Amino acid sequence: MSTVPTNDTVLTGITTTGTPHLGNYVGAIRPAIAASQDTNVDAYYFLADFHALIKCQDPAKVHESTREIAATWLALGLNTDNVVFYRQSDIPQIPQLTWFLNCVAAKGLMNRAHAYKDSVQKNLDAGDDTDFGITMGLFSYPVLMAADILMFNGTKVPVGRDQIQHIEMARDIAQRFNHIYGQHFALPEAVVDDHVAVLQGLDGRKMSKSYGNTIPLFLPEKKLKKHINKIKTNLLEPGEPKDPDTSTVFQIWRAFATEEQTAYMRKEFENGVAWGEAKKQLFELINEELREPREHYNELMENPAHIEQVLREGAEKARAYSVPFMEKLNKAVGLYSLV
Ligand code: TRP
Repeated sequence: MSTVPTNDTVLTGITTTGTPHLGNYVGAIRPAIAASQDTNVDAYYFLADFHALIKCQDPAKVHESTREIAATWLALGLNTDNVVFYRQSDIPQIPQLTWFLNCVAAKGLMNRAHAYKDSVQKNLDAGDDTDFGITMGLFSYPVLMAADILMFNGTKVPVGRDQIQHIEMARDIAQRFNHIYGQHFALPEAVVDDHVAVLQGLDGRKMSKSYGNTIPLFLPEKKLKKHINKIKTNLLEPGEPKDPDTSTVFQIWRAFATEEQTAYMRKEFENGVAWGEAKKQLFELINEELREPREHYNELMENPAHIEQVLREGAEKARAYSVPFMEKLNKAVGLYSLV
């Protein structure tokens, strides 16, 4: 008997660690929010706060990050009528399903996970024991992620390239479960958008928290300006033509500009615009796009009760699916009433 729905369900998780930066915005948040306007797809977006515990064991930080990230998505106009927006930890069926999946997932499959292998390699390079500092949380991260996806029969999973392997593992685990217990899960597919920009950071490398080169998304105007002024440039003087295609200033410009604005800035570079002037214009362009959401963000941060309310409503919608589905799965594996 097949219980697998045929329509596509878009599902993606946002790990609640750290403060969102311009790279997150351009690469993931902005396209996902644009997609949330589409009323024709079933979509689930959630705050992956169980995942946060793997990377961060500072309770205050985990808590604060959840508030910041929820406020960010709401401030930027996530349409919570079209998208089920919830907190992973509000769905007890997810850790329940994680256990079921743990019991069918091959340990050998998990041994091949990039994140785990990187940690092992770092240990070996440092002359430490293979498993030094590696928790079961890190090791079974892909199983929790599989549960996130399979719980709601997610079929299209928008992620960054680094997450493709995890989606493949979720497929493997789903197939294994289906093989043993019957067709319960649709097989998820990663959706990687090659058109969105991978933003460069202050030093010209990929903008990333781990490089410490980010521009946080909702900085106050003055600080935003300061950060933009810190973007690395070369020593060319005003009046000397500059190469847009190797410039971080231009690269970030393009991520916020219309086509005409991009063509205009390209001309400015050819005409030898001063770096200070180009940065001033870049600030204005970014600030124009972020000014209103920033105000909304600040209001939301002052009103966590509203955020909480939205998340609870989302969790209720999510549980309307996960509770009955989990009952079915409990039956499937042999856990049900004796009478
Ligand atoms: N691991 C993902 C990341 O770091 C976040 C995530 C958790 C996720 N669960 C998910 C993404 C389920 C997609 C589907 O980006």
